[in-house]
Amino acid sequence: MTTHLRDRKIAFIGAGSIAEALIKGMCSTGVAKAERIYVVNRSRRERLEFLARTYGVHGAALDHALDGADVVVLCPKPADMAQALADSARFSSPDALYVSVAAGCSIGWIEGALARVWRGLPRGAEGAAPPRVARTMPNTSCAVLESATGYAMGQNCTWQDTEMVHEMFGAVGTAYALDEEQMNAVTGLSGSGPAYVYYLVESLTQAGVAAGLDEDTAAALVVQTLVGAAAMLRFSAQSPTVLRERVTSPGGTTMAGIGALQELGFADSVREAVLRATRRAQEMGDELSRAPRDAHDAHDTQDPQDAR
Ligand SMILES: NC(=O)c1ccc[n+]([C@@H]2O[C@H](COP(=O)([O-])OP(=O)(O)OC[C@H]3O[C@@H](n4cnc5c(N)ncnc54)[C@H](OP(=O)(O)O)[C@@H]3O)[C@@H](O)[C@H]2O)c1
Repeated sequence: MTTHLRDRKIAFIGAGSIAEALIKGMCSTGVAKAERIYVVNRSRRERLEFLARTYGVHGAALDHALDGADVVVLCPKPADMAQALADSARFSSPDALYVSVAAGCSIGWIEGALARVWRGLPRGAEGAAPPRVARTMPNTSCAVLESATGYAMGQNCTWQDTEMVHEMFGAVGTAYALDEEQMNAVTGLSGSGPAYVYYLVESLTQAGVAAGLDEDTAAALVVQTLVGAAAMLRFSAQSPTVLRERVTSPGGTTMAGIGALQELGFADSVREAVLRATRRAQEMGDELSRAPRDAHDAHDTQDPQDAR
């Protein structure tokens, strides 16, 4: 096992579902030590107590969590990121690696937000190394250590940073290094992907009921069908097209069912879902770039992208 993260102090800003899934994965696989993980949120004290009780991590105040942190994992909702960055940058070291999981927030925007706060601190910009930022997009299957995660590293990151990010997300599934230009597409495909699959499962279950099954039986059959098909995709070394064609006999039942999906535009619907979610990730990033900056940097006129 590589050990880039194991002895590092890791601060989580945000204690929601993605933060918990990452903490669970990193602790259960031994990639990180629970006693070196500090978690901060905005207001829900009981949530921090739960995480501390369940995983052995520290629920902490912002200054305590960030003091000497080697890695800062940014897990607020995108709309809360500006405030979380402004608050965190006052206490965090420019020597830390910043890992964002937020949809739509570009590396340049995060670098700019950190750099602006650091410039206003007594140590000044000259004393600060350029921000090292990774942008990642896991999905909620982190919770069962089966996330498909895409990540992109900022221009100031080192190869050790890349290894730490790969290790972190490898602990909760499979991680893929990509260019930042691809991250909105990752958001639209695999970031939102579990919800598409859950919707498919809901629709199949309702269809099973319409076809004459009781709901519990239909739901159980659908879930096991999904698990079996996923195992075939993973282990059979055949493409989905070959697997589909093999079970679609001319004139048979599956062909009748696939025919209905084709007539009703299944592939077009799925394509539009992914493209629309991808566009929404782009829009969220654009909205952040246009939003007024916080009190810490109101005097500053630098564009967020300038820090890249
Ligand atoms: N859920 C997904 O499927 C998914 C998948 C991939 C990526 N993501 C990304 O992951 C991020 C978090 O999603 P989530 O589902 O985990 O959200 P969540 O459950 O709503 O958690 C958000 C957390 O951020 C905290 N927070 C908000 N503002 C803060 C601030 N200024 N300082 C410190 N903490 C602050 C909240 O604290 P309080 O509870 O105290 O307000 C809460 O603990 C989002 O940016 C999302 O784009 C989510």
